[in-house]
Formats: sequence, C-alpha cells, structure tokens
Amino acid sequence: MKDRLRLFPLVAIFFFQLLHIAYALQNAGNDQVESAERHTKHTIPVQAAPEDFQQPLHDGDETLKKSDGAEQVQKALASLRRFERTNPRPKRKTLGITGTITQYVWAMLPKISAQGPSSAGTEGTQPSKELPYPVAEAVKLLEEAADIKNSDAMFLLAQMNFYGNFSYPRNYSEAFRRYSQLASLNGNSSAQHMVGFMYATGIGGAVPRDQAKALLYHTFAAAGGNVRSEMTVAHRHHSGIGTVRNCESAVKHYKNVADKAVEWYRSGPPGGMAWVADSYRLADEDGGVYGEGASFSSSGSNANKQGPSSDAHAALDDVLEYLDLMSRKGDFKATFSLGRIHYDGQKGLPRNLKSARLYFMRVARLYWQKDGRAIESDKMELEKIASKAAGYLGRMFLRGEGLDQNFEKANTWFQRGIKSGDAGSQYFSGVMYLDGLGVPKNIPKATELFKASAKQDYAPAMVAMGALHLDQGGPEDMQVANRYFELAARYGNIESLYYLGEMINLGIGRDRSCGLATAYYKSVAEKAEPLVSSFAEANFEYEKGDMELALLDYIFAAEQGYEKGQANVAYLLDQQKSKWDLPTWLTMTAPRASFLQNSALALIYWTRSAKQTNIDSMVKMGDYYLHGIGTHSDMEKAAACYTAASEFHQSAQALFNLGWMHENGVGLDQDFHLAKRYYDHALETNDEAYLPVTLSLFKLRFRSAWNTFTHGRVNSIQDEPAPKKQWSFSEWIANFLQDDHPYYNDDYDDSNFLSDTDPMPGGDVDGFYEDTIAELDGLLESLIVVGLVASLVFLIYYRNQHQQAHRQGEAARVQAGAGPANGAAQEQQEDRGLFPQPGDPEFGQWAAGGVGH
Ligand SMILES: *[C@@H]1O[C@H](CO)[C@@H](O)[C@H](O)[C@H]1NC(C)=O
Ligand SMILES: *[C@@H]1O[C@H](CO)[C@@H](O)[C@H](O)[C@H]1NC(C)=O
Ligand SMILES: *[C@@H]1O[C@H](CO)[C@@H](O)[C@H](O)[C@H]1NC(C)=O
Repeated sequence: MKDRLRLFPLVAIFFFQLLHIAYALQNAGNDQVESAERHTKHTIPVQAAPEDFQQPLHDGDETLKKSDGAEQVQKALASLRRFERTNPRPKRKTLGITGTITQYVWAMLPKISAQGPSSAGTEGTQPSKELPYPVAEAVKLLEEAADIKNSDAMFLLAQMNFYGNFSYPRNYSEAFRRYSQLASLNGNSSAQHMVGFMYATGIGGAVPRDQAKALLYHTFAAAGGNVRSEMTVAHRHHSGIGTVRNCESAVKHYKNVADKAVEWYRSGPPGGMAWVADSYRLADEDGGVYGEGASFSSSGSNANKQGPSSDAHAALDDVLEYLDLMSRKGDFKATFSLGRIHYDGQKGLPRNLKSARLYFMRVARLYWQKDGRAIESDKMELEKIASKAAGYLGRMFLRGEGLDQNFEKANTWFQRGIKSGDAGSQYFSGVMYLDGLGVPKNIPKATELFKASAKQDYAPAMVAMGALHLDQGGPEDMQVANRYFELAARYGNIESLYYLGEMINLGIGRDRSCGLATAYYKSVAEKAEPLVSSFAEANFEYEKGDMELALLDYIFAAEQGYEKGQANVAYLLDQQKSKWDLPTWLTMTAPRASFLQNSALALIYWTRSAKQTNIDSMVKMGDYYLHGIGTHSDMEKAAACYTAASEFHQSAQALFNLGWMHENGVGLDQDFHLAKRYYDHALETNDEAYLPVTLSLFKLRFRSAWNTFTHGRVNSIQDEPAPKKQWSFSEWIANFLQDDHPYYNDDYDDSNFLSDTDPMPGGDVDGFYEDTIAELDGLLESLIVVGLVASLVFLIYYRNQHQQAHRQGEAARVQAGAGPANGAAQEQQEDRGLFPQPGDPEFGQWAAGGVGH
C-alpha cells in the first residue's frame, strides 16, 4: 500500500519540475533582481498597523520612561497574551495522504515561485517574516524596559527569541545576549541555566560549544537553586563531561535533586503525587533506531515488546475497544481494568478520573447494595474485584481525585475493601491512621494495616513498613528496613529508591558505596519527571509537529542526563536513518529543516546515550565514526563501538557491521573468514537479518573465492561443517560456494597452482575487482552481485578448464616421478566429484539447479 502511494509524488514531481523549468525560463531575468533585493533586507518588516488598533501602546511614553519598566512589561505582556488568544499557533500535524502531499507540494513551491530560503536567519520556522503589529509594539516596549534594566523584560525578550513565543521569530544570538545580560545583572538562576545550556549545546550557532563555561554557568545556577542545572551538573560529574569524573560531586548534586524530588512527591495528596511518565524513546515507535528487527531494542529477547505494528496508540485503542465490549457484556473484570487504565493513565492516554470513577462504581454496585450490604453472590471473583474497586474509590475520596476530598466516604470504602483483604484499602487506611486523617491518629493500627498490605507485596505499604523500621533505629531494624525497600524498589517505587540511596550514601544498615548511591539518587531524580524535566512539553510539541521546539525540549532532558532524552535528540538529528532511503526529493517528506542538520551534536548524544548502555546508540556511534559523520572518520573507534555492542549485548547490527569491516578491511584486518563468522553470528542473534546477511554472505563467498583464486593476501573462508538439510535454491548456491572453498583454500598453499606464466585471460583482471568495489558501495554493490553470479559461472568454467590442464600437467609430472606430495593427488580426487564438467550430461542439470544435496 505504502509503495503504491509513493508513486504519487513521483508523478507530481514530474509535473512540478516541468512547471518549474518553464517558469524558470520565463523569469530567468527577474529572479536575480528579486533575490538580490531580498538578501539586503535584514530587519524584520512590520505589518502596517491595522485600522482597528486605535490605541497605540505607546501613549504614556513620558511617564513610563521614568518608572522601572514594570508598567511597560505589564502592558506588553497583556498585549501579547491578547494577540496569542486571537492568533493561536497554527497546527502542523499532517492530515494523512492529502496532508503529506500538500506538505510535499509546499516543499516544492519555493522553487517554483523562486522565493528561496528565508534570509532572515530564523531557520525558516516562520512561514511569514512579517511581524504582527501588536507583537512589534510589545517588543518595542519590552526593549525600552530592558534598557532601564527591567529583569522581567529581559527575561521575556530572551524567551521570545529562544522559544519563539507569540510567533516572534527565533534569534538564538539575541536570546543568548538577553540571557547573559540578565544573568550578569542579578545572577538570576533561570538565566544562568539557559546560558549554560547554550554553551553546552551551541544551539543555533549563537555561541561556540564550550563545556567548561557550560559547567561554570550550570554550577552557578545550581547554587542559585535551579533544579535542572543541578541535575545537569550532577550528570556531568557522573559521566565526566567537561570535567573529570567525580563520584563524590555527582552524588552530592544528585542527592540535592533527589531531596527535592521526594519533597515534591510527598507534597502531593495522601499517598504521594501521581503522574503519567512522559519519557519514552521516539525510536521505539519505529521499531528501534535501525527499524523493526534490526535494532537491539526490537530484536532477540527484546522483540515483540511493542508488537509488530509498533503503533502504541492503535494497540491501546484496540485494547480499550475490546475491554469496553467485554464490559458491556457484563465482564466485571474488564470494567475494573478500564477503570484502572483511566485512573493510572499511560502514554497516549492522560488520566481520566471521571471515567475511572464511573467504571469503579459500576463494579462496586454489582457487589454492594445501596445500604452497603454485600449482595450474596457465589462468584468469588466478584468479591475480589469489587474490593479492589472499593480500594480505588476510597483512594479517590481520600486524595480528592476527580471528586471532593471526603475522609468519611474514603473510610467507608476502605472498610469494605479491607473486609475482603484488599491491599490498597489496607495501605490507604493505614495512611489515614498514621497521619490522623479523618480518624484519630493510631500508629499501632496503621502499622498493622501496613503489615497486612505489605504481605501482599504492595509496594507503598512496604515502603511505609521500611520507614517505620528505620525510625526504630536498631541494627536489626535497619536490616528489615533495607529488605522492605529493596522489595518495593522492584516496582520502581520512587520513595524506596530514595531511602535506599540515603542508606547507602550514609552507610546505614550496609556498606557505603558512592557509585550505587549515585545510581539510586539519579533514578529518583529522573522519576520526578513533571518536576524536573521537559518531556511532557517535548512530546506535545513533537506530536503537534513543531520539531524545533520538540528538539529543544528533548535537549533539555538530554543535558540533564536522561538517557531517553539523549537517544531522542540523537534520533531526531540523525540523518542516516537507512542506507536504503530514497533521496529526499523522491520521498514524501519535506526536506529536513536546517536546525535538524547537526551531525556533530547527534554524535555527542549518541555517545552519551551509548555510555548509559543503549546498545543501538553504541552501534550508531560506530556508524558515525565509520562514515565520518559529525567527526573525522576513525575506523578504530568504529570497530571498538561495534565490538563493545556485540560482545556484551549481542547486537545483530553490530555483528553485521563487524563482519562488513572485516570483509572490506576497514578499521580491522581484512579477513574473510572472520567476516563470515560475524555474519553468521548476526544471523544467529537475529533471524530477521536473514536477507541482508544472506546477500552479504553471498558476496563475501565470492570475494573470498576470488581472493584465494588470485592469491590474495586475505584469509579466506575456512571449512566449517555444513549441516545436512533440505536446501532451497539460493541456499544450495551458497552452500555450493562454501563447499568449494576447502579446495581453493588448499590451493592457496600450493603456489604452483597458478603459475606466473599463466595469467588470466585479459591479463589485468587481478585487482580489477578491488578497484571497482572500492568505488561502488551499498545498493550498487549488492546489485552487481547479480553480475558476479554470471561471471562466476564463467569462472567456474574457466577453472575447470584450467584444472584439467593442471591435472594433465601434474599427472605428467607424477608419471615422470617429479610430482609434489600426495596432497595433489588427493585434491584431484576431491575435485573430480565437485561438479559436472561442461559437456557432461549432468552439467545442464546443474546449471538449472537440479542437483541438490
Ligand atoms: C529570573 O528572572 C525572571 C524575570 O525577572 C523571573 O521571572 C524568574 O523568577 C527569575 N528566576 C529566579 C530563579 O529568580
Ligand atoms: C515561551 O514558550 C516556552 C516553551 O513553550 C514556555 O516554556 C515559556 O513559558 C513561554 N514563555 C512565555 C512568556 O509565555
Ligand atoms: C539576531 O540578533 C543579533 C544580535 O543579538 C543581530 O546581530 C542579528 O542581526 C539578529 N538576526 C536577525 C535575523 O534579526
């Protein structure tokens, strides 16, 4: 289906190219003048004031100038907000085929109308360079205020230049200027964070990348209480970015963030904050960086995590639809599941407390009558599920989720749940007794409830038990607490991770370990996504289609040390999606925006992501070194990356690349035998690599054979026992070639086989192959395999002829008593049976593939 759709733009291209040429011919003269004019304009033109905009914002100029600028800022902000309300940012989401075609046509249009890329240097994010009148006026006011050192005005101007709020065209240089102005004015930590960020990334070319300055500014900002900077500093000390690795510094900074994260978590309703995790890898949507099956993240033991379609949204919709159907049919388990899904929320589905409550209520009503008595039922299952629903309903009352907080009603539901031993009810009831919420404070009772809940492996209850033991302070209590926390940590409970970090960092109940403590603190900090990260904004912008803003937000997360952020940034910046990609003018996608063309930055983030043990990133890193993308090419580093990825984590792609490097002698010794081993291993690791591996093996066998045949210096493929089985035609050919090699290989030692006086027909064939191949790569190279097969047939024929002559010569020598050792005789024995001689009746059969094993 997709393939057929792809034909559409092809037809369109022809049409537009024709138009283009015609137009270009017609306007050959005018264009140059126009573009020359355009390039001289550097200021942003302002639209004429609309008629209905009667009150200019500048009216009280005299009085305003004397103030501290606060009034100007207020006026400007009000005007901007009004403007934003009336002119919301355009949605850029593509609308299926029509949308894509429109997008495509748009990508072509600049050529047709000869408008060229925008000269304003704003990376072409704004379709129109005209600054709306209210925005221009507001900016004027803000600039006035900034001139008299109003920090709010500076900050707002900086933000507008950086993020492009209120459709103001981005200017990173100007943003940097404003941020550093503010940072030096009053040490504002938000501004320092931004300056550090811009030094770290060199984003938009505003400043050259300077990791030392970045760390400096981030350290200042962290000292000023900026949590994102604190995390960035921690990550830099942890990974050794722009500084030496220093665990003690890392643990100190990560602890500060973790403290804030847990404080934030506990500031939520009883039982702690609840949120939906927003961090995920964009690449996983496409089946991994290398696509479905080829990526480590979607192959081998990781396969089918995402399902074959990898479309999480579609899968979720299917699940919801199915559950809804079952629920309507009276399946209370389905109803309860729907409640839970809506209560917890997940990626692509925000929490919906109203729906959750309806579903839980529906289940509860099946079991409890209006007066609260249980309906007699012989269904054991119903009692269990209904008690769980009661636990959730009580929790929603206790926490005021989707309904008004009401301790009394919460308690009622919890009592119902506890009667049937529901762990959630026990825990939250315990929280009520522990904190005296709607009931008298009663710690023994709370402990009892927690204990019962923890026995059922309920993570929050285990944390509560651990905390209670920790308060006791005895050595055994520490052991028990530690045990509870570790059990809860299996579920990724943020508080348990924090407690473990604290215990390890302080050496309480166990030995101190800086590295382990850092790891715990780091995961605590990273779990508090809504507090510290910009993932939610990034995903929002990404789905909306604003790639630049999405990229910025992902870079924030990446700088803070989120591996998923790093992987996402690298993935967005990656231009090497696939070797087989059609050129951009052939595909339906619009050309990549220039802000996405930053290979050096991509490599940085592949590297950082790889350091946090992302295997696909490690392989990618190898690719960048191999091809010299964003760096000078360094074969040794590439080989090191592939080796690391293949040795420890069995990445098929890495194995394949190692095979390729051995085959071509790039970065590693050229060794056909080792190459084959790697290719085979890649296939073992991942069946889905069958086609590329088979093709490569085919080519490799030929090259190996050729190498041996021509006395190449490369180690050829050795004999390996081939399993007997039913062969398909292609396998048979491959196997045929494989079986051939022992023969060739033996000949390798026999330097008499091809005498110098017996050159190849044509003389210069030796070396021809290598030269040609060096120039051709990828697709083309694979295509000539077909040609090679043809020449192979010829070569086999030639070899036979040659062997015959050789044999005759040998035989003559043996007869004359001057022959070499028995080996030669054995060779002849082996050789005779290999394949039919031309002219032999069997030859025709063989050529048609009729001779099987
Ligand atoms: C930095 O300055 C801006 C504008 O004055 C202000 O809104 C922000 O709260 C300041 N940040 C800090 C951390 O003080
Ligand atoms: C500008 O946009 C960014 C990103 O969307 C946002 O974080 C920031 O709060 C906005 N600033 C203002 C003043 O609206
Ligand atoms: C961006 O700002 C810098 C100074 O901050 C200025 O020199 C440059 O002309 C601006 N670029 C555009 C396109 O306005």
